[in-house]
Amino acid sequence: MSIANIKELLIKASKENYAVGAFNITSLVQMEAIIEAAVDRKAPVIIQTSVTPVKFLDKDVLVAVYRTLAKKAPVPVVLHLDHCRDVDLCKQCAKAGYTNIMIDASKQKFDENIHQTKEVVDFCHSLQGVFVEGELGTVSGVEDQIKVIEDESKLCNPHEALEFVERSGVDLLAPAIGTAHGIYKTKNPKVDFERLENIFNLINGQAVRVPLVIHGGTGLPRETVQRLVALGGAKVNVSTELKHTLIDTGFKYINEHRDEYNPGKIDVAVKNAIKEVVYKWIDIIGSAGKV
Ligand code: 13P
Repeated sequence: MSIANIKELLIKASKENYAVGAFNITSLVQMEAIIEAAVDRKAPVIIQTSVTPVKFLDKDVLVAVYRTLAKKAPVPVVLHLDHCRDVDLCKQCAKAGYTNIMIDASKQKFDENIHQTKEVVDFCHSLQGVFVEGELGTVSGVEDQIKVIEDESKLCNPHEALEFVERSGVDLLAPAIGTAHGIYKTKNPKVDFERLENIFNLINGQAVRVPLVIHGGTGLPRETVQRLVALGGAKVNVSTELKHTLIDTGFKYINEHRDEYNPGKIDVAVKNAIKEVVYKWIDIIGSAGKV
């Protein structure tokens, strides 16, 4: 169990119609909370860090804590580097012990995206047990969500997706289908379900080879997420909700205990609140009891 092969986990999830939750952390308390919640629900889980925590917490510290917690956990746990645009940093994190790396060259031209993605894939595969996620199209911030969904050229073209995975050798693909990072401005954000379905069918046919990743989990309605999972989304990313939970819970606790100087109690409050969020997502994506 413990330190896990993401590709096997996601192929299984894709075949069995559930998804694995991928939760971004900015603190070690969040990492503990997410793993504990996954253990409680017997669910496989992915811990993600963007590049910022890699720099302020240090990749070696993150890997050491991940390994310690994952080895004790009776569920598979992955450590994933999220949206890294720097090929060298991708390589450094893979060498340090991240088990999955996202090279995000989606802002580059198609051929350059393939070139950079392939470079990271070749490096990671030479290390054994390190897998790579690539992105095609624009997964926007919420301020651009409507613009992106209405501009076909910014979304992932299914035929290009097939060429992208074949030429780059990438293990997982995050196709832009209209979801966005942050808090959606509407309760029912527009998402191109048909596009996801086409991409899944073109790339995978009957046998799942390259599982698909859904970005921008925060704020998507439960039914939207479940439909995306049913159409082939095998990894669902959640970040903003966890950041808000950490800050709001810490703020509330301090506000209500203004004279208490016991930082551990703030951590406990934050940890419990994060666990509740993770339970909710595990329930939405159907990964409970899959270990
Ligand atoms: P949210 O911040 O919208 O949950 O998106 C998370 C994400 O996609 C991280 O890659």
